[in-house]
Amino acid sequence: QFDGHESIWLFGYGSLIWKAGFDYLERRPAYIHGWTRRFWQGSHDHRGTPAAPGRVATLLPAPEAICHGMAYRITPDTLGPLDVREKNGYLREVVTLHFADGDTDQGLVYVATEDNAAFLGDAPLESIARQIAESHGPSGPNRDYLLNLDEALRALEVEDAHVAELARYVRHLDGEAAETMSDDTLTP
Ligand code: BEZ
Repeated sequence: QFDGHESIWLFGYGSLIWKAGFDYLERRPAYIHGWTRRFWQGSHDHRGTPAAPGRVATLLPAPEAICHGMAYRITPDTLGPLDVREKNGYLREVVTLHFADGDTDQGLVYVATEDNAAFLGDAPLESIARQIAESHGPSGPNRDYLLNLDEALRALEVEDAHVAELARYVRHLDGEAAETMSDDTLTP
């Protein structure tokens, strides 16, 4: 597919926005049309466990939507290890990347669809937030993934209502937990 290309763009919309974990030639904020970011993919190997999966971002087709993220220009050989790292149900899609200066270019994005076994799908925002607040996996607390993403999007001056609402909820749950703890401490 990319034979003969010296470099390709990889579009990151989740953890890749703040943490690449691979070498790249260039990194540029970008957006894509027709996709929306949702915490609908289960994570039993990174931000949760098989018994208590966490939730991470995937993209859902949405004709009117725009998804902002970070594009990395990489050499094709970087994709091999990424395919392994991002297994857990993510498949590559080809997308058109839009850059702030109006330039466009073709790129790749990893998307987990409902066809994969780890897909969790929609749920009330409050249950998604609670699941994220409570899940932990080998890569760390699920809440850090969400809050890092929220902060990275703010730093890019991007508005994403789904992520912002979830982050607000999870911080609220943290506050409740802190209150409960101090109540306990004060109880004779
Ligand atoms: C992303 O940040 O774009 C991403 C990270 C892991 C798997 C799929 C996508």
